[in-house]
Amino acid sequence: MLFHSLLSFRRDFKAHDTDIVLASVPKSGTTWMKALVFSIVSRNHFPIDHSPLLVNSPHDLVLSFECDYYLKPGYIPKLENLPQPRVFATHLPHHALASSLIDSKCKFVYTRRNPLDQFISQWHFLLKNRLWPGAKMSSLDEAFNMFCDGVLGFGPFCDHLLGYWNASLENPDRVLFLKYEDVKRDPYSEIKKIAEFVGLPFSEEEEKAGLVGEIAKFCSFDKLKNLEINKTGIHYGPIKNDSFYRKGDVGEWVNHLTPEMADRMRKLLEAELTGSGLIL
Ligand code: A3P
Repeated sequence: MLFHSLLSFRRDFKAHDTDIVLASVPKSGTTWMKALVFSIVSRNHFPIDHSPLLVNSPHDLVLSFECDYYLKPGYIPKLENLPQPRVFATHLPHHALASSLIDSKCKFVYTRRNPLDQFISQWHFLLKNRLWPGAKMSSLDEAFNMFCDGVLGFGPFCDHLLGYWNASLENPDRVLFLKYEDVKRDPYSEIKKIAEFVGLPFSEEEEKAGLVGEIAKFCSFDKLKNLEINKTGIHYGPIKNDSFYRKGDVGEWVNHLTPEMADRMRKLLEAELTGSGLIL
């Protein structure tokens, strides 16, 4: 199903230089980034207390190439009239993107997260939404093996990271590499960084009026999780909106994984990332 949408996306999508693409491995904080970037780019259209995020899931305001726009076989989405700048999301690895995006001057905001937390998040998400293809894979050990072997989600996660990381080194003005943990620790600075990167920096007046802090608070885990739309709505098929908000913690993997599993991951990261300059 996704293979079909990948082909349509690569064939039909026409990028604009002003496009913003939010890229990530699933469970790295995509929902959060969608809410943040939507709030940043639409801040002149909606005061925060009238934000469309109050009644729409972030996933319905920022749609994904492969999981939304190009999902329906034979359907070519009309994207020319979307509000500017257009904001899209993708879990596709960098090498699978439409060449139109690569050749344009559009901006990528890539979010990455500690892979152990990301794996545990994904594990819960797939279990909660009954998305495991077979009962066998509902064993945590089995799932961890799959994750380490790169057969879970959108391919080997180190390749995913390195694709965008290398692109960010080549074109730092086009790819912003963010850490989930940094956004948790200091949302204020990260929101300002994103706004500057996408060419919509906060003015002195906006900063003085406390707009950055308002966006941080509005998009916080507790606020979004407790909105009615995110507590009750359906995302797609069996996937419920509330499954995108579990704990939102850093380092929560320690409650689920053994030191041996963590060690395996450490060695894997060392083997795959050494020399890249990317430190997780
Ligand atoms: P946990 O399962 O560890 O709680 P994605 O959006 O890429 O699917 O990632 C989901 C993860 O991001 C989940 O992690 C979820 O709880 C967390 N998350 C969702 N919204 C968040 C927010 N506003 N702030 C921090 N974390 C958030």
